[in-house]
Amino acid sequence: MSLININNISVGYGEIQVLFDVSLEVREGEILSIVGANGAGKSTLLKTISGLLTPSQGEIVFAGETISRQPADEIVGKGLIHVPEGRRLFSLMTVLENLELGAFSPNARHRFEQNLTEVYALFPRLAERKTQLAGTLSGGEQQMVAIGRGIMAQPKVMMLDEPSLGLAPVLKKDIFAAIRKIAREYGVTIILVEQDLINSMAISDRAYVMEQGQIVLEGSSGDLLNDPHVKAAYLGV
Ligand SMILES: Nc1ncnc2c1ncn2[C@@H]1O[C@H](COP(=O)(O)OP(=O)(O)OP(=O)(O)O)[C@@H](O)[C@H]1O
Ligand SMILES: [Mg+2]
Repeated sequence: MSLININNISVGYGEIQVLFDVSLEVREGEILSIVGANGAGKSTLLKTISGLLTPSQGEIVFAGETISRQPADEIVGKGLIHVPEGRRLFSLMTVLENLELGAFSPNARHRFEQNLTEVYALFPRLAERKTQLAGTLSGGEQQMVAIGRGIMAQPKVMMLDEPSLGLAPVLKKDIFAAIRKIAREYGVTIILVEQDLINSMAISDRAYVMEQGQIVLEGSSGDLLNDPHVKAAYLGV
């Protein structure tokens, strides 16, 4: 069943158009990947779903309701949670304080204790380090806090923007495993933006490929990995 329908949106920054007539569907409970080169428009797409940008054309429908003209805080309240590129933690605040900041919507405040327990179960290292300042954590630990803060927001849909960027292979594995768990065990629908095609396809149900602000391919992750264009352009084979 489709949970989000993005219908022919065009989006830009001022005069500069970045997304051109983009349409896609997100199905309930799936892990959907958006892949594409630097500058393709992946982060712009997530910012538009989150309500940080407004499309000049087209619309975004979530669970039957048009959300593309709603303010970002209302969209968060509906459970569409964005874990942004670059983590964006408050470095002079502790791990726990950063996690608490995720829980500002009424729904999330209600579930505060349960969600915190889930975060610590998913990332035991954060429980050990809850009083440590976020700025002193390793890159991988910071990514755990960013994802944990997303869980504290009581997500129905979690949008992750390049969560594995800059992490060592072992830590990457942990992060991808955690994302899979969030989808499969907590029933959260995932939109995953990644440049690591192999790891993201391994946990995804479907994927879209973006190039220069347009969707150029859509398919199951297996199909995409076997696609000659994807192989040549993204896997170098
Ligand atoms: N605030 C902004 N003002 C003007 N142009 C912007 C702004 N943010 C992004 N762009 C432009 O929009 C285009 C798409 O950027 P976007 O960040 O969506 O790409 P991306 O696919 O996420 O790339 P990356 O993989 O490098 O994160 C780029 O050409 C970028 O320069
Ligand atoms: Mg980006």
